[in-house]
Amino acid sequence: MKNIFIKDLGAYVGKEVTLSGWLYNKRSSGKIKFVILRDGTGYVQCVYFKGNVTDEAFETADKVTQESSIIITGIVKAEPRAVGGYELDATGIEIISEAHDYPITPKEHGVEFLMDKRHLWLRSSRQVAILRIRHRIEKAIRDFFDSRDFTLMDTPIITPAACEGTSTLFETEYFDLGKAYLSQSGQLYAEAGAMAFGKAYTFGPVFRAEKSKTRRHLTEFWMVEPEVAFANLDDDMDLAEEFLEYIVQTVLTERAEELKVLERDTTMLQNVKRPLPRISYDEAVAILIKKGLPFEYGDDLGGTDETVISNEFDRPVMVHRYPSDVKAFYMKHDPENDKLALAVDVLAPEGYGEIIGGSQREEDYDVLLSRIKEHNLPQEAFEWYLDLRRFGSVPHSGFGLGLERTVSWICGLEHVRESIPFARMIYRNTP
Ligand code: 4AD
Ligand code: MG
Repeated sequence: MKNIFIKDLGAYVGKEVTLSGWLYNKRSSGKIKFVILRDGTGYVQCVYFKGNVTDEAFETADKVTQESSIIITGIVKAEPRAVGGYELDATGIEIISEAHDYPITPKEHGVEFLMDKRHLWLRSSRQVAILRIRHRIEKAIRDFFDSRDFTLMDTPIITPAACEGTSTLFETEYFDLGKAYLSQSGQLYAEAGAMAFGKAYTFGPVFRAEKSKTRRHLTEFWMVEPEVAFANLDDDMDLAEEFLEYIVQTVLTERAEELKVLERDTTMLQNVKRPLPRISYDEAVAILIKKGLPFEYGDDLGGTDETVISNEFDRPVMVHRYPSDVKAFYMKHDPENDKLALAVDVLAPEGYGEIIGGSQREEDYDVLLSRIKEHNLPQEAFEWYLDLRRFGSVPHSGFGLGLERTVSWICGLEHVRESIPFARMIYRNTP
């Protein structure tokens, strides 16, 4: 007898095996008890026939409760109609720990209730599928950059200054050194990395005290940020589109089962292939005006604007050259129009909005210093960043991809809160 996983049942047809897991669900029809076991790798129906098993085993199979941890023995049978294609002709059952009144039952629950019970909700098939896809996306991100000579550089979370504007900083007292902040982005440090390695990326949690209660905003989320020396905005867009194609196509082939569990219509995902359309901010505004939206030239694009623009395309669209007034201090201005920043946002289809924000960086010392002053940023905290322009400055570019928005889009989720194991939002910091 061998202790194996449900995903491997196919190799044991006709043999007796032992499976360890939790009771997902059960049914009964007279002299037969059906116990559905889950072990994290899959689900299998275990069938107990009265008379074929001991009375004790039959009783136990009858009374075992939802989410009790159990060990089941039985003979593996091919069963094309069953989930996973196999069934267990059960011979025994042992309860490890009995669960009483498991709060999440097969009936419908409200989302807030489920979020309160997130530590248990994670066990449900839908959540398992989402988080498996998330894991695969994270691996695809690392594989993509690792195989293209990028060096992974971990950047600090406790920082002395803002990267993406001062309005969304989480603040903390830092011993005798005054205030410190939770990082909104590893970018500025990734720029130091690009000057050391040529190509660098950072991938970790970032924090924003966002007041927004939208389905796209978290206060703690994960961002991957590549940064490349001797790269301009066009190079940055080339990298972004190759990256997105790689991630989406990898998930389509490697996580097809999970996408099926989520009932994701993958038509639009299959389109995510190079080249992605590139339009300027001016062209994007023209679309909004043509569609009759009340949009003022010079404003940043809002969620609705992004949806309207992306609906014009069958794959993600790159919008470049935004007004510099609505973008970050470090972005290089367009030499052909100083009012525009060499920025790019990638908008996902199907209303998922901005998943990537990036730009070419200002590499000139004097210009960057004047931007720091214009934005009322404390020059002292940026002296190290200015050093990157004092010593061997080069044109360079990069972008940041928000992991949760990407997971939500690929999985077709209604809200980012399901795309991360334990979401942090303006009104939630538990469990
Ligand atoms: O556009 P953002 O603010 O860009 C940066 O932070 C740059 N420093 C990146 C870079 O150039 N290295 O954020 C990048 C991405 C967004 O496109 C979005 O996907 C995600 O991060 N994001 C959020 N995701 C969830 N909740 C929030 N509150 C988010 N804010 C941004
Ligand atoms: Mg942005």
